[in-house]
Amino acid sequence: MSQKIYFVTGNPGKYAEMRDLLTGFDLRRKAVSYPEVQADDLEAVARFGLRWLQDRVEPPFMLEDAGLFIDALHGFPGVYSAYVFATLGNRGILRLLEDVENRRACFRSVVGLYDGEIHIFSGECRGTLAGEERGSQGFGYDPLFIPEGSALTFAQMTPAEKSARSHRGRAAQNLLAHLEQAGTGGG
Ligand code: IMP
Repeated sequence: MSQKIYFVTGNPGKYAEMRDLLTGFDLRRKAVSYPEVQADDLEAVARFGLRWLQDRVEPPFMLEDAGLFIDALHGFPGVYSAYVFATLGNRGILRLLEDVENRRACFRSVVGLYDGEIHIFSGECRGTLAGEERGSQGFGYDPLFIPEGSALTFAQMTPAEKSARSHRGRAAQNLLAHLEQAGTGGG
């Protein structure tokens, strides 16, 4: 029988990607919201969330905090990515980058796992931002983000193509290596 792990997230897109990445595990979505502490790095946000959930969700459980860091904007929106997406959206980002030549950006993902102890796994994906929204797959900033080595945005890729190179895919590989080493591998 495969091992049950709760993934605490309100984002169905993230859950779908993680479920496909953690094959062999019984990943269950738990839509509990937890406070996102104001901090300047994703790991601090993830650690705070794990500690807050420790007495509220049955372990093992995990969460993920991700962000888009735009070079020309000195890393903005970064830890504020969710708020900026909800307020400015992709069109607002495009306006901020109007006439900006340097389109480089990086997606970062931090996965936190609590299994009696806190474990942190990270992944990043560098790329550039398109001049207009392209594609309809995925979620969030996907229509803007072109990963290095590709001509397509994440939103123009299948979920498997995105996960093969994405920040979340890389963080999930690190998590999987830990789960396999800990002997908690799925059936
Ligand atoms: P959070 O990790 O849920 O706080 O997400 C931060 C923001 O970045 C949200 O607006 C997400 O939609 C966006 N985001 C996170 N991961 C991705 C991704 O893989 N593609 C596109 N946008 C993402």
